[in-house]
Amino acid sequence: MSGHGAAIPMTSQKSDPLTGQADVPGDKSISHRALILGALSVGETHIQGLLEGDDVLDTGKAMRAFGAEVINHGGGAWSVHGVGVGGFAEPAHVIDCGNSGTGVRLIMGAMATSPITATFTGDGSLNKRPMGRVTDPLSLFGAQSYGRSEGRLPLTIVGALEAIPVRYQVPMPSAQVKSAVLLAGLNAPGQTVVIEKEATRDHTERMLVGFGAELMVEDTKEGRMITLSGLPELRPQDIIVPRDPSSAAFPVCAALIVEGSDVLVPNIGLNPTRAGLFYTLQDMGADLTFENMREEGGEPVADLRAKYSPNMQGIEVAPERAASMIDEYPILSVVASFASGVTRMHGVKELRVKESDRIEVMATGLRAAGVTVEEGPDWWHVHGLEGSVPGGAVVATHLDHRIAMSFLILGMGAKNGMSIDDGVPVATSFPIFESLMTHLGASIRRTQP
Ligand code: S3P
Repeated sequence: MSGHGAAIPMTSQKSDPLTGQADVPGDKSISHRALILGALSVGETHIQGLLEGDDVLDTGKAMRAFGAEVINHGGGAWSVHGVGVGGFAEPAHVIDCGNSGTGVRLIMGAMATSPITATFTGDGSLNKRPMGRVTDPLSLFGAQSYGRSEGRLPLTIVGALEAIPVRYQVPMPSAQVKSAVLLAGLNAPGQTVVIEKEATRDHTERMLVGFGAELMVEDTKEGRMITLSGLPELRPQDIIVPRDPSSAAFPVCAALIVEGSDVLVPNIGLNPTRAGLFYTLQDMGADLTFENMREEGGEPVADLRAKYSPNMQGIEVAPERAASMIDEYPILSVVASFASGVTRMHGVKELRVKESDRIEVMATGLRAAGVTVEEGPDWWHVHGLEGSVPGGAVVATHLDHRIAMSFLILGMGAKNGMSIDDGVPVATSFPIFESLMTHLGASIRRTQP
């Protein structure tokens, strides 16, 4: 599967037991940041296990356009010869970030405090997503932006001539916005302060420290406060990208709903800002265990073992957990359809501005599969069918990889399977999804339009 091509409709059928080992690819969030921070360092960063999904490849192309040398050595090994903080060159062409909100928002932050101009665009999904949430704080540094209505792409940023540091309280729980402000703060003199009410994924903070930036994190009355000292000289790093918990979620959840399954998903990072789904599944009564718990590169890591779990119960998912599993609600709603009772998910407004409106698109597809769903602006409830989900519908995936994978997993446990109109978006984050799931024993195939 490769992105940006003609649609590839796909179908999954009720599958035989899924068994064996699922080696999922590298973490998407960390892969983007490894390329961007490598480009902002002086010298050569080496990256092992980079996710070679379309989103990350687009960020690699963008870093080349800003003057860094990005080389693929094969087998997941990459190097980035960086230009240093403040060293970005003006790109000669429009930067196309494809489907990636993380890519475009972090790169806009990284260039906004350099005296260069860049124009950004993306695919039909990305060009609908709100960018004002990033261009607003970037304007405080002195950058100007000219986009379509409500700050949508295509959008041009004229970087600040002489950036000033900012103090910014992020108005929504968003690691992308937080990261854009921190990356912009790198090329501003003095201290940039970012405050978030709830902790979101902290890869940018951890990696900035690894690259040698001076950064302090404090819990305050206002929230989690991050103070970054500007104009550091970032030192190149050797990075081993951990495997992506958000990708691990798919084989794990498939094993829980397909009768007789027993799947091992090794080496998954359990950073508390990312692992919320796994604890939620355990709260629902899933047979999901963490084996060989250890620490690698300062992060908790475990091998996940997931077994068929016919007795899962719907639960109330605490809004406080939302940030740590924000990308996992689509697949959680699939598991909830197979549980008994109602799963209530609240405080999840952000789902409406992801690659698609994930509440609306999941609710539409689940209803077509025979599941009762209620929804409101920032909540939804899924009524479980105790293992007997009818399925048998075709769902529109709206250029959203996680919608596509979620419904293919649903079909593996549903009576009549499930189809999607387009499997191409899967390649943005999980290019080996089809082969990995087939290897575990899933019945999944491409169909004719
Ligand atoms: C990401 C942050 C989250 C998440 C996205 C990756 C990141 O987005 O949904 O898939 O790498 O920073 P928001 O910051 O919009 O919540």
